[in-house]
Amino acid sequence: MELKNQKGQWGSKFGFLMAAVGSAVGLGNLWGFPYKMGMSGGFAFFIIYIILVIVVGVVILLCELSLGRRTGKGVIASYRELGRSHAVIGWLSWLSPCLILGFYSMLGGYCIKYVVANIGDIFGTSWGVGVTDSGEYFTAFYTDQMQSVIYTLLFIFLTTLVVSIGVSKGIEKFSTIAMPALFFMLVIVIIRSCTLPGASEGLAFIFKPDFSVFRGWGWIKVLAKAGGQMFFSLSLGMAIMVTYGSYMRKEDDLQLNAVTIPIADTIIAVMAGMAIMPAVFAEDLNPAGGPGLLFVTLQTVFQEMGKAGPIFGCLFYGLVFIAAITSSISLTEAVSSAIMDRSIARGKPVNRRKITWGVGIFVMLEGTLVALDGLGSHGFPHIFGQSTLLDAFDLVSEGLFMPISALATAVIFGWLKPGWLDSEIRNLGSDGKAAFGMRKYFYFCLKFIVPPMMILVLLGQIDSFFGLGWFS
Ligand code: PHE
Repeated sequence: MELKNQKGQWGSKFGFLMAAVGSAVGLGNLWGFPYKMGMSGGFAFFIIYIILVIVVGVVILLCELSLGRRTGKGVIASYRELGRSHAVIGWLSWLSPCLILGFYSMLGGYCIKYVVANIGDIFGTSWGVGVTDSGEYFTAFYTDQMQSVIYTLLFIFLTTLVVSIGVSKGIEKFSTIAMPALFFMLVIVIIRSCTLPGASEGLAFIFKPDFSVFRGWGWIKVLAKAGGQMFFSLSLGMAIMVTYGSYMRKEDDLQLNAVTIPIADTIIAVMAGMAIMPAVFAEDLNPAGGPGLLFVTLQTVFQEMGKAGPIFGCLFYGLVFIAAITSSISLTEAVSSAIMDRSIARGKPVNRRKITWGVGIFVMLEGTLVALDGLGSHGFPHIFGQSTLLDAFDLVSEGLFMPISALATAVIFGWLKPGWLDSEIRNLGSDGKAAFGMRKYFYFCLKFIVPPMMILVLLGQIDSFFGLGWFS
């Protein structure tokens, strides 16, 4: 048996695509993108975002998928195959999902809580939100350590369960059902949202081009913001696409996937904007980003919709939950896969269950800590000057490790080892011809465009986390 089959393999092209898109589509699309687009130039931001996806996202995604498929290994062993010193990059990329899981799980747990609360409202029970102010309701929830921890652990349990079942029977099967369901639910919410009176103002907020944000040095800020958003949204620089690539079959077309995944991710992000912002404006609320948008502003919208509100609330938080869990599944698989490589290296059989539940327990400890912090409401020490544990974890993973690892990936494959991936990317198409159609384009972007962009993203992240005001 080929070694990599010990960990699993995708059963179909569609299954892989759903799992990869499932990883990409997450909270970043739902709460980050619409808000950032609205605040940073509307359609003008969108154009910049699309250009970045084409010249940076597609290229790094192709690197990661083909690296994984060539080695058939998890992220640490994959980079080690390039040379001993390169393993450092593997380690950095592996540590990011370890950290992200801590806070992502807590937010996933919040989604479960809101599905439950809206079900409670459908039946008019006491565990619904009722007529309580949504801001107060949210504060009461996240400061309640017991409840926060329970929902966080439930989310981690469900994630680990799917991952422990395996690549094709667990992750692929789950994503193949969940992702089309998410799409369907999103369409229903868009129809409701866009037919509310006053919805057009919300559409104007996201789409109206505003080129004034590019004035002076403003364009650097927009570029850094769009770049950071794109990396997080495509799950790049975090071991995931290397790991998912390692389960691909040799006959799968890498170039096609490197284009399809970002297109699907971007479409869902724009659709999320069309679902969220019209409703926010129709109710005369202020648009926001982050947890406040999802759990306060939108809950207010559902409360004000009358009888049908909780039904749409349930549908909406259900879809956010699916988006979050398919992403956390990919994070857990990326962490576990690298550990499974150790058994393989020692010539031992892979015990997927034991390893994934081991990772699950680690994430439970981490998630409990983040949940106990209650978004900074319990006086935990401020790490790296951040007021919540969530922000501290996010700073290190998304803010530092991710752009560093992506920058290193571009330098390795563009400058240090050009050609290393060529034979992998140039796979046989269905017509029996081998081709690497975008080769020239790939190397041009990898050498000259990605590195300066990544440095900019890195500076932009540091600037925004520490509020240094370099780019304002
Ligand atoms: N891409 C996911 C999102 O948009 C988040 C994520 C980041 C998932 C990193 C996995 C890894 O929310």
